[in-house]
Amino acid sequence: MAEVGIDGMEIRTGKLQLDLAETFAPAQGDDPEKYTKGLGLFTSSFPDVYEDIVTMAANASRRLLDRKDISLEDIGRIDVATESAFDKSKPVSTYVAGCLEQVFEGDLHHANKGERKFACVAGTQALDDAYNWIRAGRNRGRKALVIATDTALYARDDAGEATQGAGAVAMVVDENPDLVTFSDQQGFGSADETDFLKPNQQFPSVDGKRSMQVYLARMREAMEDFERNGGDTHPDNFALIPFHTPFPGMVRRAAALGFRHCIRGNEVEEEVAEEIGRQPRQEEFDSHEAYLDAQKEYTETLTETDQYTDWYKQTIEPTLAISRYVGNWYTGSVHIARAAGMQEALDEGRDLTGKQLLIGSYGSGAQAEIHAETIQSGWEDEISQLNIDEQMEQRRDISFAEYERIHDAHNHDENREMDPLTTPDNEFVFDGWGRMGERKYTYVE
Ligand code: CAA
Repeated sequence: MAEVGIDGMEIRTGKLQLDLAETFAPAQGDDPEKYTKGLGLFTSSFPDVYEDIVTMAANASRRLLDRKDISLEDIGRIDVATESAFDKSKPVSTYVAGCLEQVFEGDLHHANKGERKFACVAGTQALDDAYNWIRAGRNRGRKALVIATDTALYARDDAGEATQGAGAVAMVVDENPDLVTFSDQQGFGSADETDFLKPNQQFPSVDGKRSMQVYLARMREAMEDFERNGGDTHPDNFALIPFHTPFPGMVRRAAALGFRHCIRGNEVEEEVAEEIGRQPRQEEFDSHEAYLDAQKEYTETLTETDQYTDWYKQTIEPTLAISRYVGNWYTGSVHIARAAGMQEALDEGRDLTGKQLLIGSYGSGAQAEIHAETIQSGWEDEISQLNIDEQMEQRRDISFAEYERIHDAHNHDENREMDPLTTPDNEFVFDGWGRMGERKYTYVE
C-alpha cells in the first residue's frame, strides 16, 4: 500500500503585527522581558478588518493549489479545523470552497466537506481523517485539502491576551507525498478537563496555569500510549520534534519533561548520570511528594547538561522560529512548528530526507496526540517555496490604539466599524453580510 502523508503546505498570516515588548508590554505596565524571555514571544499576528478564518484559509489554499498545479476536481475532501468558527451549522469549508470556485476552473461539488473541533488538536485530527480516508481506499485517486485556521483572540486583559495570534495553514494529503509520510503508530492522552473552553462565547474562559499542567499531563499520557503501541521515542532518533506551541515557553517545559521521560533507562541517562546522577525512582522515596520534588530538581539540572542543550538546540529550538513572531494559531500552531523546524534545517543545510519527526499535538479540553513522520525527498523543494518570512516582514505594525480598535472590530459583541489598515492585493477579502446573515467574500485583484 502506498505511503500517505502531507504533499505540500502553505501558511498565511494575518496582515497586522503587534510588537509585544515595544507596544503591548508598556501599555499593560509589564516588563517586556516577561514576553520575550518568559513566554518567548516577540510579536503577534492580527487580521485586518477584511481578514478572517475564511480569507486566511482560502488565501493559503489558493497559493497551494496554484503552486502544486492541483485542480478542483483533484480534491475529494476539504476539512477545516478551527476553534474560531462563526456558524454552528454551515462549516467553514463550504465558505472556503466558495472562494476557491471564484478563482479556479471547475467546482468542488463532489468533495466531501466538514469541520473538525477539538481545540488546537483538531488540525492534526483532520490530517488523520484524511490519512484514514486515503488508506481505506475511498479517495478514488483524489487528494484531501486540510486547513487549520484560527483567530486566537482573548478577552481584553485576560492573561492569554499576550499569546494571541491569527493565521491559517493549508495542507494537501495524498499518496506518495513530497513532504512527509505518517506513521501507523499513534499515542493518545485524553481526559474530560475544564482548562480552556468557549461555551457559546467568542473569547475563551481560561484557567491559564492549570491549562499548562493539563498540557503536560496529557502529553505524557500520549507519549506512554505511543510507546505501548510500539512507537520509538529515543530522543536522538528524531531530526525535529514540533510541539503544539501556544507560546514557546510552554514547549520549553514540555521538552524538558519529554527528554527526561525518553532517556529513562537508556544510555543517555547513563551518560548524564556521571555528571548529575540517575533519575529519581519512585521506590526510592517514602512519599509521592518527595519523589516529585526530586524529579523537579533532577529535571532542572538535566536541562543544564550539554546533552540536553545540544539536543534542544538541534531538535526543538528551530521549531519555534515562526511562533515567536506570530503568537498562537491554535489548530495551526503545531503545523507552523513543523514548517519552522524544516525551514531552519534547510537554511542550515541539514539533510533531512529519510529522517523522522516526532509530532506532539495538543488541544485543551483536553487531548494530546503523538505520532512520527518520515521526511520525503521533495521536502527541500516544498519548504523553499514557503513565503511566510516575506509575509511576516510585510505585516503592518500597529500602535496600541490601533490594536484596541482592531480587537473591537473582530469582537462579535462590539462589531465596531473601522477602515482597513492595509490594502488588499490579489487576495480573498471579507466583503460584508448576505441576506441570511452569511458572510460574503470576494477576490480582489
Ligand atoms: N523577565 C523574565 N521572565 C519573566 C518576567 C520578566 N520580567 N516576568 C515574568 N516572567 C516569566 C514567568 O516567570 C513565567 O515563566 P515560567 O512559567 O517559566 O516561570 C512567564 O514569564 C509567564 O509569566 P506569568 O506566568 O506571570 O504570566 P501570566 O500569569 O500572565 O500568564 C499564561 C501566563 C497562564 C500562560 C497566560 O498567558 C495564559 O493564560 N495563556 C493562555 C492559555 C495557554 O496558552 N495555555 C497553554 C497550555 S493550553 C494550550 O496549549 C492550548 C492553547 O493553545 C490555548
